[in-house]
Amino acid sequence: MTPEHQAFLDRYYRLTHHVYDVSRKYFLFGRDPLLHRLLAGDWTTLVEIGPGTGRNLARLHGRRPGATLGGMEASDVMRAHARRRCPWARIDPGFAEDGDIGAVLGVPPQRILMSYCLSMVIDPDRAIDNARRHLAPGGELWIVDFADLAGLHALPRRAMRKFLAAFHVEAVPDDLLHHHRANLVEHGPLRYYVVARFTA
Ligand SMILES: C[S@@+](CC[C@H](N)C(=O)[O-])C[C@H]1O[C@@H](n2cnc3c(N)ncnc32)[C@H](O)[C@@H]1O
Repeated sequence: MTPEHQAFLDRYYRLTHHVYDVSRKYFLFGRDPLLHRLLAGDWTTLVEIGPGTGRNLARLHGRRPGATLGGMEASDVMRAHARRRCPWARIDPGFAEDGDIGAVLGVPPQRILMSYCLSMVIDPDRAIDNARRHLAPGGELWIVDFADLAGLHALPRRAMRKFLAAFHVEAVPDDLLHHHRANLVEHGPLRYYVVARFTA
């Protein structure tokens, strides 16, 4: 959406992408339970917005090799990484807020996944609207991301928020999800993360 946001992402990931998956294992919680849940559903097409290194797409491909998977990634550095790791997926450049998600697979996807991406986008309202608009009829948008950390004691909560803010990450407020009429909103332990589902 803005060249500045892309430049920030590229600067940041150029430094961290080698250790990305190992380090994120310790603080991007809730991703695997969500993938498990997604795999319980009946679908054949899925696009992940902000797939990063392609970690989630690789796991989905391993469990559902016949599915057509794609991604839309704003960072050139991460897009190159995801393409190397997921040669069977089409990973397009683009921003969550205004990217043509329907063009990634050439058809509107039945599922759209945003895993720890909404907390980084400049305009989360537009990102949710844009994803829903591109879903196939009856499709679902699933989000997992940082919640308000309300279950943590004040000190570690403040420290964690400061740490996230340093990387331009903002917890996803429940109000935003309810405003967009999520039909499921669930929190992980200590309200560390939130999982939300929207329909087309
Ligand atoms: C914290 S990483 C999560 C990566 C992956 N989804 C995962 O769960 O491991 C967030 C990703 O979203 C991408 N991203 C951030 N803002 C974006 C935007 N506005 N549009 C598309 N991708 C964006 C970043 O470049 C990064 O690859």
